[in-house]
Amino acid sequence: MHDVLSRLGLSDTNPGAWTSASPLPMRGERETLGSENPATGETLARIALATKGDLDAVIEASARAFVEWRKLPAPRRGEIVRQMAEALRAAKSDLGKLVTLEVGKIASEGQGEVQESIDIADFAVGLSRQLYGLSMHSERARHRMYEQWHPLGPVAVVTAFNFPNAVWAWNAMLALVCGDTVIWKPSLKASLTAIATHKICAEVLAKNGWDGVLGLAIGSDAEVGESLVADRRIPLVSATGSVRMGRRIGQVVSARLGRSLLELGGNNAIVVDATADLDLALRGILFGAVGTAGQRCTSTRRLFLHESIADAFTQRLVSAYEQVRIGDPMAEGTLMGPLIDADAVQMYERAIATIREQGGEILTGGTLLDRPPHPNGHYVRPTVVRARPDMPICRDETFAPILYVIPWREWDEVMAWHNDVPQGLSSALFTDSFRTAERFLSAEGSDCGIANVNIGTSGAEIGGAFGGEKETGGGREAGSDSWKNYMRRQTCTLNWSPDLPLAQGVRFDL
Ligand code: UN1
Repeated sequence: MHDVLSRLGLSDTNPGAWTSASPLPMRGERETLGSENPATGETLARIALATKGDLDAVIEASARAFVEWRKLPAPRRGEIVRQMAEALRAAKSDLGKLVTLEVGKIASEGQGEVQESIDIADFAVGLSRQLYGLSMHSERARHRMYEQWHPLGPVAVVTAFNFPNAVWAWNAMLALVCGDTVIWKPSLKASLTAIATHKICAEVLAKNGWDGVLGLAIGSDAEVGESLVADRRIPLVSATGSVRMGRRIGQVVSARLGRSLLELGGNNAIVVDATADLDLALRGILFGAVGTAGQRCTSTRRLFLHESIADAFTQRLVSAYEQVRIGDPMAEGTLMGPLIDADAVQMYERAIATIREQGGEILTGGTLLDRPPHPNGHYVRPTVVRARPDMPICRDETFAPILYVIPWREWDEVMAWHNDVPQGLSSALFTDSFRTAERFLSAEGSDCGIANVNIGTSGAEIGGAFGGEKETGGGREAGSDSWKNYMRRQTCTLNWSPDLPLAQGVRFDL
């Protein structure tokens, strides 16, 4: 076993159900699942999957813990989250390496991911003293009207493989200071990172005398996922993943009139105009399209180049792509690691075939890596396609490093193409024109939840609200006032007069 795994307290076979710093006793025969290193195909360790019964115990513990946790003053909950930030800082190097081992992100991105969790924890600490409600002027004399925010209950957090640490933290750190308890269902492709992260944070809670506030249930969708989202003890389900998964969760949760917070697929584009600083644009595009092997929900998938620069810039882009060092994600200097698994490689290959059928021209990439650093690693080449905006595949999110390049002439036309996709997560413009920048950011411009100028589509900071429109699901996580999603609002009117005047001047006297 890798040293990193043992340093993080993982063993050869790990329990998949936890109610606090200790796992649930998992009696009897369990189905186990290996977690695979996508760079080598090796099994890193195994996980004994949670059953429906285990999930029930996790939810029960979470509901019980909520009854007490909600009473702890928010700044004191913040103090415990501050200790979690410290614990994550201490474990950053190992946890970041585990992210690289388990999902194949390059080392710097693995570290960056844990940093994102530390950042949101720090943010949540400050927030714990700022869960502000408004105060209103009542129309009635000697009445006071105000709103306040209360904890919601046990919150389910469903996460994808590609941000196996930070996306949980975006949700969990806010939910914790808001007074909620949290039940995490991570992707089966990233369960070791989930266990290690859970243990670090749950141990902090345990040291402060709190059990059950964090729960973890690793299991199949059929066994754990479906029951979790259908459970009436859970007022909010926050889910990150595919549109297909989000649609299912949205339907199940809304059928019981629960709340969901969805952060689903993106089909993010960068527009480059004739005035743009092209060196800057090139770097932004490369990080957006090739970074994380195109497996971020914010990855750049479409590139609209003004026709005056399109040919020369496409050539520069292709030659930059050909210099990208693809290989062992742990090795210094590697810019692109493997895809997550064999299915992802198959999806990439199917997309390449469809692109050809639909008349796209592959300018570079389009194949598996010739000499992969390991024969069982899931390596593909980053791909640039000369495309037309009406190619149906340009409307899909293919979770792989494939970039569609499309030239444009008229602003209105490029914005129509830009917005004419089912998803609406992130978007970017490279320009030196103040007017074009404002136009892109205006109501007539990008229809996405995130709109950047002279920055690529990915790599958002935690301080802003994160999420998008249309099939992206409409949810907002992380910064700004996203915390409101994790609380319930109460409007209070307090009469300190000796009379009982009715609102709207209604009279109802005997
Ligand atoms: C995701 O891919 O689900 O903005 C999240 C970014 C990261 C988060 C991505 N901060 O690219």
